[in-house]
Amino acid sequence: MLDKLFRKKDVATILEEASRSNSGLKRNLSAANLVTLGIGAIVGAGIFVITGQAAADYAGPGLTISFAISAVVCVLAGLCYSEFAAMIPVSGSVYSYSYATMGELLAWFIGWTLILEYLFACSAVSVGWSGYMISLLESWGITLPGQISQSTFYYDNGQWGLTGSFFNLPAVFIVAVVWALLMGGIKQSAFINNIIVVIKVCVILLFIGFGLSYIDTSNWTPYIPENTGQYGHYGWSGILRGAGIVFFAFLGFDALSTAAQETRNPQKDMPRGILISLLVCALLYVGVTAVLTGIVKYDELSVPAPIALAIDRTGEGLSWLSPLIKLGAIAGLSSVILVMTLGQSRIYFAIAKDRLLPPVLSKVNSQTGVPQNATILSSVLTGIIAGLFPLQVLNELVSIGTLLAFSIVCISVVILRRTRPELNRPFKTPFSPVLPLLGAAICLVQMIFLPGAAWVRLTGWTLIGLVIYFFYGFKHSRLR
Ligand code: ALA
Repeated sequence: MLDKLFRKKDVATILEEASRSNSGLKRNLSAANLVTLGIGAIVGAGIFVITGQAAADYAGPGLTISFAISAVVCVLAGLCYSEFAAMIPVSGSVYSYSYATMGELLAWFIGWTLILEYLFACSAVSVGWSGYMISLLESWGITLPGQISQSTFYYDNGQWGLTGSFFNLPAVFIVAVVWALLMGGIKQSAFINNIIVVIKVCVILLFIGFGLSYIDTSNWTPYIPENTGQYGHYGWSGILRGAGIVFFAFLGFDALSTAAQETRNPQKDMPRGILISLLVCALLYVGVTAVLTGIVKYDELSVPAPIALAIDRTGEGLSWLSPLIKLGAIAGLSSVILVMTLGQSRIYFAIAKDRLLPPVLSKVNSQTGVPQNATILSSVLTGIIAGLFPLQVLNELVSIGTLLAFSIVCISVVILRRTRPELNRPFKTPFSPVLPLLGAAICLVQMIFLPGAAWVRLTGWTLIGLVIYFFYGFKHSRLR
């Protein structure tokens, strides 16, 4: 029994299956596409919504340092992702890598965790999108009825309750639009994503460029506000907690690796795509945070749309930028939903190919090259969760799931270097095993500091996954 649970899929078999023409997915993505897909997946609610609250509650202007710390963690994980994505360029990302290194049960566990990350991140960002959309509609004099503009449930101080709203209609709406786009094929999705990325990056650059002259440097003093005596409330502990919070802002680069099987030259382009998009986003984030906290005093920034607030503070000066920021945020959040739904569907596809989920999910439309059933499943689940649950509950689950996934990738790099040293590695994580182990350790430490409720939900999610594995995957696995 035990040996069956840890049966491994050979790397050569994984590559051979992926290269067989009947895998159906189309290799349409260039290096530039990967960078834009990466930026599309990364820049979203993290910068447009969470920055203000993190500066106001935890780090003050020193949030720029939090962003830098978070970027380092993500680059460590990004290097490990790059090593794998170049060596095993298949659509299952960490799931496939761990099938080769740690065996079936752990691979299933990690695949299930990835589904958690993409499903809940996508739902969370859809809820954020709904917030921005409702505020844009209100500025045009359109108010949605209360019954369809909020999540069904709320969660406050450990208590669940009903909000009185049936469901969050705008959140479900954007999921449906993204679904329609994805069904058109990866080329079309990448094209739309490119347009969105140009819009959101331009809007952010405009904010940084024009905002510079409105900075009042006295707002940066003190740069790291003194700790209030409570852990995480300003001071260096606040910077660390801020880093944990803005970690969310970097998520998405890993979703890129699920598109490896649709990339023309994954060996070279995957590492480039992952690392360049991370670097560009880190620079944008530090720039936005510096300008934001320079225009508005940090303790006033705890608002849902902090960048819009900063623009209002400039008076007439930048008022022309205000509608553009809302547009940029709405566009920006849409592309995060797009790439995360894509990532989620590719994970179902890869798992179903191994028959750990029903093979119907690995069916690819021969014309569009889209795993259509997997895409439908991703969108339906995202729509249901986005319609029912509030943002905060979703966010916590995303962080814990992602940190777990990152630590497993980092550890897998070290394991595979030992067990399969002969494999061709077009890209190698430098200073292994030190950097991968450091990456894994930081992720695990960050997990420890997350609230207990997130651990309980992760355990619940894992138990559901184990039930599915033992009742379905174990028996139907192709390796049997
Ligand atoms: N990084 C993504 C965002 O900030 C999840 O929306």
